[in-house]
Amino acid sequence: MSRSAHPAGPRHADVLHEGHYSAPPADLNVLDEKVWSRTVTRDAEGALTVGGIGVARLAEEFGTPAYFLDESDFRARCRAWSDAFGRDADVFYAGKAFLSRAVVRWLQEEGLNLDVCSGGELTTALDAGMPAERIAFHGNNKSQDEIERAVRLGVGRIVLDSFQEIVRVADVAQRLGKRQRVQIRVTVGVEAHTHEFIATAHEDQKFGIALAGGQAAEAVRRVLTLDGLELIGIHSHIGSQIFDMAGFEVSARRVVQLLAEVRDEHGVELPEIDLGGGLGIAYTSEDDPREPHEIAKALSDIVTRECESAGLATPRISVEPGRAIVGPTAFTLYEVGTIKPLEGLRTYVSVDGGMSDNIRTALYDAEYSVSLVSRRSDAEPMLVRVVGKHCESGDIVVKDAFMPADLAPGDLIAVPATGAYCRSMASNYNHALRPPVVAVRDGEARVIVRRETEEDLLSLDVG
Ligand code: LLP
Repeated sequence: MSRSAHPAGPRHADVLHEGHYSAPPADLNVLDEKVWSRTVTRDAEGALTVGGIGVARLAEEFGTPAYFLDESDFRARCRAWSDAFGRDADVFYAGKAFLSRAVVRWLQEEGLNLDVCSGGELTTALDAGMPAERIAFHGNNKSQDEIERAVRLGVGRIVLDSFQEIVRVADVAQRLGKRQRVQIRVTVGVEAHTHEFIATAHEDQKFGIALAGGQAAEAVRRVLTLDGLELIGIHSHIGSQIFDMAGFEVSARRVVQLLAEVRDEHGVELPEIDLGGGLGIAYTSEDDPREPHEIAKALSDIVTRECESAGLATPRISVEPGRAIVGPTAFTLYEVGTIKPLEGLRTYVSVDGGMSDNIRTALYDAEYSVSLVSRRSDAEPMLVRVVGKHCESGDIVVKDAFMPADLAPGDLIAVPATGAYCRSMASNYNHALRPPVVAVRDGEARVIVRRETEEDLLSLDVG
């Protein structure tokens, strides 16, 4: 199988270039700041430190495998996003990337809103004190119970995903004597992934209501007739790990076109558009993500231009970055176990975690970097594959990387940029215990999600 398949799934296998690692980097000790969180550096002895704490101490105190999250980097990225979008826009952090109560508190302190897509995420958000009006509720198949809770608790917006859901949410709101603020999620016929985007006539996917065939216009018509619903805008999310703004451009143009149609037909100018998330991060040195201020400027220029040409007042914009905020802020620390050189092929380096803490490599053929972090080494580079300890040959953490040839059992290695969709997609496969998430900041480290224990496993198994 090609290893260049797209991180968003095999459907996109045709859009990425081949092979990142054509030659080893000049110095394997260099920690490329593109892929590591901001406070990561090597100390005088050559060991990695984050937030001023060395990995040997972190491993001793918290064990391995473990995710270490650079809290000041997380907060700085939140501020960069909200500063970039300014007062005329709203940033909703996409909780699916990684959510915990500590994260919710940081978001609040940094002034961000939150996108949730399940009852569990909603509960976590509310329990940590996120005001309901700052929450957007997503999902293509929200349960009756989720809808009831969201409306009753007064979430700021529910993003409607189907014709049936329009009726369900309106019924609940009416029964509770409420008027629920809603957006309609439309599929604009754009699939944007990494360096490419594909514009198609219509999309073959489960999310949203198609613009094509007048379906989204029909959804607007229905929502506007229902007393329980207040239509605040249109939502579009076009994909994952996107670097190329062209997909957003097409999406914004099509959404604005719908706003113009709504104005012409109903005499209503909808006040908001949400352009979703999906902004890319650097997993390897080859990736070149854009800064939030460039993204904000590009998006607001596109929307302003399209609205001017349609004769509409510019709506308030919202965005939903998940990966771009939390992704780069964490790394996974592993201890090296078995090392198996395969003559003429590569060396298999087994670590004490695997596909249970990072399914993205197996699931999406995603690319990651890896470094020896407990010491420096000037040994020759060797081609390695970092694999886990699961009973599955596809249990690969990093497919191809160079590591020093003196790598030995007991060394600590770390995979950067694992803040998004690693802990949140972690599993108990082979009854693995999901690793803790440890927040590190200014010389202090504290567990924000604890490691699972064997008692946790047994307590779910009722015998
Ligand atoms: N808004 C909506 C409506 C979404 O569906 C998503 C992601 C986001 C925002 C946030 O996207 P982000 O900025 O994090 O890319 N598990 C996959 C990613 C799935 C994303 C699903 N929706 C992965 O590991 O790459």
